[in-house]
Order: sequence, then C-alpha cells, then structure tokens
Amino acid sequence: MPSTTRVNSVIEIERAGDVALIRIDNPPVNAAGRDVRQGIEDAINALAGDDSIKAIGLYGAGRTFVAGADIREFGKPPLAPSLPDVCNTIERCGKPVVAVLHGTALGGGLELAMASHARIGLTGLRVGLPEVLLGILPGAGGTQRAPRLVGIPFALDMITTGRHLPAAEALEHGLIDQLKDGDPRDVALASAKAVVAGNLKTRRTDEIAVEPNDAALEAAKAKIAKKTPHLFSPVKCVEAVAASVTPIDEGLATERHLYIQCHDSPQRAGLIHAFFAERAVAKVPEAKATPRPVQKIGVIGGGTMGSGITTSALLAGFDVTMIEVAAEALERGTGTVRKNLEGAVKRGKLAEAKHAETVARLGASTDMTDLADADLVIEAVFENMEVKKEIFTKLDGIVKDGTILASNTSYLNINEIAACTKRPQDVLGLHFFSPAHVMRLLEIVVADKTAPEVVATGFALAKRMKKVGVRAGVCDGFIGNRILSHYLRVTNYMVMDGATPEQIDDALEGFGFAMGPFRVSDLAGLDIGWAERKRLAPLRPAAERVIEIGDRICENGWFGRKTGRGYYVYDEGDAHPNPEVANIIASERAKAGVTPRDFTDQEIVDRYMTAMISEAARVVDDGIALRPVDVDAVFLFGYGFPRFRGGPLAYADTIGAAELIKRIEAYAKEDSHYWQVPDLLRRMAADGSTFAQLNEGK
Ligand code: 3HC
Repeated sequence: MPSTTRVNSVIEIERAGDVALIRIDNPPVNAAGRDVRQGIEDAINALAGDDSIKAIGLYGAGRTFVAGADIREFGKPPLAPSLPDVCNTIERCGKPVVAVLHGTALGGGLELAMASHARIGLTGLRVGLPEVLLGILPGAGGTQRAPRLVGIPFALDMITTGRHLPAAEALEHGLIDQLKDGDPRDVALASAKAVVAGNLKTRRTDEIAVEPNDAALEAAKAKIAKKTPHLFSPVKCVEAVAASVTPIDEGLATERHLYIQCHDSPQRAGLIHAFFAERAVAKVPEAKATPRPVQKIGVIGGGTMGSGITTSALLAGFDVTMIEVAAEALERGTGTVRKNLEGAVKRGKLAEAKHAETVARLGASTDMTDLADADLVIEAVFENMEVKKEIFTKLDGIVKDGTILASNTSYLNINEIAACTKRPQDVLGLHFFSPAHVMRLLEIVVADKTAPEVVATGFALAKRMKKVGVRAGVCDGFIGNRILSHYLRVTNYMVMDGATPEQIDDALEGFGFAMGPFRVSDLAGLDIGWAERKRLAPLRPAAERVIEIGDRICENGWFGRKTGRGYYVYDEGDAHPNPEVANIIASERAKAGVTPRDFTDQEIVDRYMTAMISEAARVVDDGIALRPVDVDAVFLFGYGFPRFRGGPLAYADTIGAAELIKRIEAYAKEDSHYWQVPDLLRRMAADGSTFAQLNEGK
C-alpha cells in the first residue's frame, strides 16, 4: 500500500514499494520558494538514507511542474538552502531521480530537472531558461548542465533568448529523454519503477563532457552586441556557458559569481518590475465583476487602426464585421486585414492550417445595421468628436440591449461620447496602439458611468487578444498620450535652445529607447501631431512657450516617412537628417532671438525623463492611473520604454523625489510655466516615500 508523508506545507513523499515520489504542491505555479527548496532537500536526504527505496520520482501537483525560482524573493536577503545547493543534492543523490515534467518547466524548474538523472516530459510541456528576460542567468547550474545535455550552440540559443521550447523540440535535442501522455503522478510512479526494472536509463549530468565550441560563443557575443547592446545579463550568460567546458565544480563557481553580478545590477530590478507590472495591471476594482460574453465584434473604420484591431480580434478567435462608408474603403480595409493575416502566418503567429478559417470569420459591410446583433462594437474612425458622436448615436439605435460600445479615440472625452447614447453604462474607451495587431498595450478607459462588468469585459478582451490591458480614467490623452504630449514639448524646447533632433534621438536611444522621439514622430506621421496642436491651440494658456518648428516642417508637406521627408530624409531605407530642417530651426531661433547653446547627452536624458516623470506623477495623483505601476506598464507595452529600466516611475525611484524636485526647480528658472513641481513629488520628498511603496498601497 502506498503511504504518504508530509515533509512540509508544500512537499510530500509517497512511498510505493521500492520507489518513492516527491510531490511539489505550491500553487499557482510551484515556484521554488524557500519551502519548496527546503522540502526537496529534506526529502532527497531522507530517501537517500532509506535502504528500501531504489528510485525516486519528482513531479509537480496542479497545472505545472516548477515554473522557476520564486521571483518575489529576488532582491531580498537569501534564504537557505539555495536552489543551486538543492540541484547539487539531487545530482549527487545515490538513488536515481527521475523528473516528470508537465505544463511548464522553466528556469529553476528546468534546472531541478537537469540535475535529475532522467527527464520525462508530458504532452503539452514547454521548457525554457527565461532568466535572461529577468536580467539574470540560469544560476542553479543551468548554464553548466544545459551545455552538457544539448551542446554549447543550442544551450546558448536557449539561455540568451529565454524562449520557451515545445516538448517535441526538447526531446529532439535531448533535454528530455521521453515524451509521454498521462497524469504526472502516475507517470512518475511508472518511470521510477521502470528505472528499478532497468527499462529507463539514468545518468548524472555532471559526468557528461562538453565539446568546446569557441565559434558558437563568439557568434553569440556578436549577436548580443548587435541586438541588445544595452543589456548586461546576456553577455554574462555567454561567459557562464563558456565555463561549461571546465570540471563542473569550477563551472558552477563561475556561474555563481556571474549570477551575483547580474542579480545585483539595476537591470535585474527593472526587468522584474516589468514582469510583475504586466500582471499587476489586471488587478482593478472591477476585476470581480463578470465580463459579458463576447463573440461578435463590429469594427467601424477600415483605416490603419480599424484594420489592426480587426486583425487582432480575428487572431483571438472573434467573428468580426468591418464597417466602412464606401465600398472602396471597405475593400482597402479588408485587404489590409488579409495582408496582416498572411503576415501573421509568415511570422508564425497563425498556423497555416487555421488561416482559411480565420479569414472566414471576417465580415464586411457598408451598412451599420448589420451590427444589430454584435456583442461589442469598436469605433476606430478619425479623431473628430462630431463624427464620433454621430456614429454612437446611430449605433445606439441599432445594436441590441447589452451591446458594449467602445471608442478607440486616443484623446477625446469618453463621457461626452457616452452622453449621446441611452446606454452610457455600456460605453468605454478601448485605446489600441498602432499597429494594433502587434502592439500589446490596450488602454481601457473608464468613463463616469461605465458599468463594472463592461470594464471587466474590456480586460477579458485584452487577455484573449494577448494584450496588456491598463485601466485609465478620462482626460485629454488618458495615461499615455497625456504624458507624451507633455514631454514631447521638452524635446522641442531643447531643439530651439541648441540641440539637434538627431542628437536628441541618439541620446535617448543610448538611454535604451528603441527609437528616439523624432524618429518615432516621422514614423507615426508628423501631420498627427500637427492636427493635435491645432485642436489644442485655442485652449493653450498664454504663458505657454510655443515652438513652431514642427508646424513649419508640416507646412512644406513633409509628414515623415510616408512622404519621404520629415525630420529625416528617407532614401531607400537610408535615413539622414533633413538639411532643410536645420534651416527651419535656425530661422525659428533667429525669429525668437534665441542664441543656441550646447546640450550634453546626459542633460537631454535628464530633461526628457524629468518631464515624463512629472506628468506621470500628476496622472497618478489625479487618479487617471490607478497606481504608478499602471503608468509603467503603459510605457513598457505601448511606447517602447526600455524594459530594463522598469518604466518611468520605477526609474524615478532610482533618482528619488528630492533630486527630481531639485532638477525641476533648476529648469523652472528658464520656464516656470512648463517646469512645475508636481504635488505628489513634494509629498513623497517630505515623507521619503517611493513610487514602489505607492504601488503596494503604502
Ligand atoms: N515566481 C513567483 N511568482 C510567479 C512565478 C515565479 N517564478 N511565475 C509566475 N508567478 C505568479 C505570477 O506573478 C502570477 O501571480 P498573480 O496571480 O498574483 O498575478 C501567478 O503566478 C500566475 O502567473 P501568470 O499569470 O503568469 O500565469 P500564466 O499561466 O499566464 O503563465 C508562466 C505561467 C508561463 C509560468 C508564467 O507565469 C511565467 O513565465 N513565469 C515566470 C517564469 C520564469 O521566468 N522563471 C524563471 C524564474 S528565475 C529562476 O528560476 C532563477 C534560477 O535560475 C535561479
């Protein structure tokens, strides 16, 4: 008769004849926190000294094997036993240990498995060493054992990309020994018995020799230098893998040393903040409400946004009807969607076999009454309040009761839009970012009367579309564009005062942004900002410093990439600064009587980031964002903010409120209208608090 013994709250041993099973039960993902580590260590030691036991099976309860070390422990004082020690205990155990993997075996989870003496994967398993994405390296022997099992080139691929491998690929490369169907506990029992019967071979990973491969190491270094020049940990990953040709104790010591360097780097803190930010934003007051069922979606507008939203919804399995005013525009819109879907197949985002079925879910009409039975309608026409109001009034009279009406507006007042319907409780903003089938951010804009279940439906939609939904309140530009409008002004001030657009772009790319603000504006189209400036001109306070360089550029019909000319000139893929822009800048400076001065790259970054943080602090203080982490997520997933810096407000904590105030007060000597100290920063400086504490509700 099998008997079970509890080792601690998360680890149990089951004895069945001459085999024993160690069960890990630490929901939701069996993360290898302290109790898991201690429990496994104790269980292995107990079984190693038990003469009746000939083999041990290790498996996880619930939906997954171990998904890694417990990320919440990072940055806190280490708690023994360490995961590397537990892995070494498993590897050195005198009894064969077979690990049975289901769900995911990631990071420390895969390291526990690699230290075991055989590995069985269950159907649907995904494995990987994603530590690099958190700014660290596989620090529990992963950089030493993976090369022993799969060779240096493949280990480098796994460790420097952090990608998840499907089970078949893991089997093909020898990371797992067998792939089976079944329940983890039953397979663990059968596998341990198979070991005893001599039907399943086991071996110690540390006894496998690694074939040196300097060429692969050099190629990996070159790739990293090109693709992720700002990141610290990928380089350390390669250095650690290079040490795998030495005896394992030496290699493990090198790995430890490099791991500590990564762990102590600010990039680790930033990347882990980003990991939790992605998950924290779903925790909103409306999360407990039941989302309304959505299957049929209507999208009004077949332009870039409408086509992108339609593509994203089709990829998520919805039935979508696109509406346009004229047949020609509709044909263009659905054509873009079809092209997007073909692209998705090429990029591996849509299985070839599912392509026809996905296209078949696309409907098109020039008649809005075809949306009568839609569950959700997303309006994505151009930014004009009157046009939007007309559409919402019409829709209100067409769609069934309970249909949710959403606007994809980037700036406009959702309360005003909702007020022209008889169902303001069913109206919200769903602000996608271009290209909508690629960008992960979705601002879910909650108006005064939006019902909780409508907000919850927005979040459910985001999840199904694999997007990061962030709750935003109503104001001009919501979270992202409100902050963007503010800090873009500082770039114009710096250009007027002496910097060049390309110097600003280069400085901010050096800080880690994928693209500088002028390159982004050229890509997005300079006419968008121009229209926005015209819209806001009547509302502009008299004290505001106005720079018209952008207007002069647009007056020439130079709208950026799409016209071949903007801040840069685009010649067949090559971009260089537009010489005419330098003339425009010189003439605007002369007109305003400005004598240009030099800016260092550091000053550019400081002014830009201080402007961004200032408006972000106001957005939090005004309740437009629920918490600082919501602002961080918006910038990480919608604005190309460098992930390793965690987001604008995580970055602000590395500077501190007092220093930020000092900067703002110094800048305010030049322009006291633009540079004002946000009240929140003042309060934080007074009590020494941080944005991180605000995230925790402190
Ligand atoms: N540690 C602590 N908490 C974790 C965790 C971990 N390793 N992995 C997931 N969680 C938490 C999440 O924060 C979330 O918490 P919440 O419900 O309070 O928001 C909960 O578990 C469920 O996670 P997801 O919402 O992400 O669930 P999914 O089913 O969408 O995804 C997953 C599951 C694929 C396992 C995903 O959570 C994931 O990728 N986790 C991280 C994996 C990872 O990076 N592992 C390496 C860790 S570093 C390491 O092992 C160091 C070692 O080398 C020494």
